[in-house]
Order: sequence, then C-alpha cells, then structure tokens
Amino acid sequence: MKKQLSDKFYKEIDRLRPRYPTNQALLLPALHLAQDELGWVSGDTMDEIAAAIDIPPPVVREVITFYTMYNLKPVGNYHLQVCTNISCALMGAEKLLEHCEKKLGIQAGETTRDNKFTITEVECLGACGTAPCVQINKDYYEDLTTEKMDRILSELK
Ligand code: FES
Repeated sequence: MKKQLSDKFYKEIDRLRPRYPTNQALLLPALHLAQDELGWVSGDTMDEIAAAIDIPPPVVREVITFYTMYNLKPVGNYHLQVCTNISCALMGAEKLLEHCEKKLGIQAGETTRDNKFTITEVECLGACGTAPCVQINKDYYEDLTTEKMDRILSELK
C-alpha cells in the first residue's frame, strides 16, 4: 500500500492519541485531517487511516459512509454544498441549486472540467434560521438569493 498521508498527519495523530480513550475514538479527527490534506478520502486512504490508528478497515468504511461531510470522491477547489432540506426548500433552495448548476454548467454531484467547482446537494447544514444556505469549503453563505450567489461565484472564479 502506497503511503498517501504526510508525516505531518502522522505527527498530529501521535499528538492527539493520548487525548482519546480508544483508537476508534480517534477516527473522526483522523478522517478530518486526511480530508484536509488530500481533499477527499479514497479506499486506499481509508486503509492507511485504519493502519495508522490500529482499527479494522471495515470500521473506517462504516463510519465514513454514515457522515456526509467526508468526500468519497475528488472535489473541485470550491465545493458548493447546497442545502435543499425543508427550511432552505421553503426559502428557494431548489431555484438556487438550479441557478448554480446552470451558471457552472454542471449538475449536482459533478465537478467542472477545470476542477474548480463541485456542487453537492446536502441535508440540513444547521443554518435553518438564515435559509437558504450554501457551504463553500468551510464557509457558510446564508440568506442567499440568486443575485448574491452570482456575486460569490464571480469572486471565486
Ligand atoms: S434546512 Fe437548510 S440549513 Fe437547515
């Protein structure tokens, strides 16, 4: 198995290990570190994480497929996660999603050819009071309209 994670990842795991009661408890921070480093978590990376924190590989797969914040395939430089859950839906999320798709020329679940943008339709982002909401990488954009979205996209382009 070719090593994909950096020495920095392994050093950080060693630093965190004493803070967690079990190896399995270290899994979520390990997944975050890996995703921050590589942008997504491949099957090989899952196996490497399992070996790094000494847990069985199927446990990594069970956990990672339960949570939606981990990318199981490569994403573009800007990952637009468009919430279409109930509060956002009531505030125009479908229209906003269609607008993003049209503007970027891709459908939800796809990445632009230049690898710059990925759109993903997601469940509630926990910002229902300021719906509709889109998360772009680690930032939240709230109270969105198609006009606001245009401004955000043109700043990112
Ligand atoms: S429904 Fe969209 S943030 Fe909660």
